[in-house]
Amino acid sequence: MNTFNITLSSKIGIIGSGAMGSGIAQVAATEGNEVLVYDNNEGALIKAEANLKSGLLKLVDKQKITQDKCDAIIKNIKFVSALETFSECNLIIEAIVENLDVKKKVFTNLEAIVCENCVLASNTSSLSITSIASACKFPERVIGIHFFNPATLMPLVEIIPGIATDERLAELCKTLILEWKKVPVICKDTPGFIVNRIARPYYGEAMRIVEEGIADIATVDWAMKTIGGFKMGPFELTDLIGHDVNYVVTETVWKEFYYDQRFKPSLLQKRLVEAGFLGKKTGRGFYNYKEGVVQPSSDENTEKGKLIFDRIIAMLINEAYDALNLKVASEEDIDLAMTKGVNYPKGLIAWSKEIGLENVFSTLQNLYDNYKEDRYRPNILLKKKRLSF
Ligand code: NAI
Repeated sequence: MNTFNITLSSKIGIIGSGAMGSGIAQVAATEGNEVLVYDNNEGALIKAEANLKSGLLKLVDKQKITQDKCDAIIKNIKFVSALETFSECNLIIEAIVENLDVKKKVFTNLEAIVCENCVLASNTSSLSITSIASACKFPERVIGIHFFNPATLMPLVEIIPGIATDERLAELCKTLILEWKKVPVICKDTPGFIVNRIARPYYGEAMRIVEEGIADIATVDWAMKTIGGFKMGPFELTDLIGHDVNYVVTETVWKEFYYDQRFKPSLLQKRLVEAGFLGKKTGRGFYNYKEGVVQPSSDENTEKGKLIFDRIIAMLINEAYDALNLKVASEEDIDLAMTKGVNYPKGLIAWSKEIGLENVFSTLQNLYDNYKEDRYRPNILLKKKRLSF
């Protein structure tokens, strides 16, 4: 039986020195782990090292960390150009390109280098951990450890055992993630895990409302912020995430759930991607960010705003109950995930009790009766629980 040793004294290997790999390396090194970072692109590695140092110096300038702490973090991280240096690592977190075949190849190569007790983790946001693990001789040592962007700031980490993963591993990872001062949640290896599955209607239902002409983008954003208390409206948020990224996640989750209507992507967003209107990063998405452009104003009609909010929140809550019903995660972890991973003002299960399960159910049932679309079917657990309230 393997003895996994993943503690603050373990050597951690990170593969991929991009946004996520660099951030995860900084998190581990800050808490005292020795970290090796590898990338197959020499230029990316040099850039990552320079960015890490300048980022840490900015934290010193802002007095968020001391110069000594900055030096200690830098000393803990080594940027290496050969994967063979990972032979002494106890835990390796892969954060390379989101491509199943490439990831499988990297995992196969890794197994030939590391010792048999080394844990191999993937930071994938959409691929199946079980499928990545299938490339390994010892799939029991493979697990998902999914950070959110930026990893240094976002507290949530989803831990995802695949079906062949050693049953002790999730708890061991949870302990280490807590030591890294993050918030771990454990979830089943299902498409989108917790956050990227449950959050889909925040974007999808908002786009549907706009496609149908029920309200415009500014009004939907206003309603979700003012009435719902969300930090950003769905259109501002997808513009920030980038439509290329957000659309692909929706499309992947939809396909992986065998084309369930609940996750169907929006043509409105597809056209934005086709046009290259990817959001803030290209200067145009749902909004136009060119200097001097007057932004659309919202129709601040409280009655309309409430209808928009009720519809989107009911869809989100329905998705949270579906995840709970299918044992994707515990009620506590589902609520933690949405508040700590995507900054929702409240956990969705707790929110459902505040709004009243009967109210949520009737919003969904009305939508279902009117549209006769499977997309709006109320979840069976929500249906049952409302009777016991
Ligand atoms: P990125 O594009 O910023 O960095 C990926 C790095 O991996 C690049 O430096 C690239 O040179 C390197 N790389 C590619 N193939 C490699 C290989 N075969 N061997 C070694 N290095 C290789 O990507 P990012 O955004 O850091 O994403 C990495 C992973 O994290 C992906 O699986 C992504 O789905 C996941 N993720 C991304 C989030 C995000 O918001 N960007 C959030 C959570 C997870």
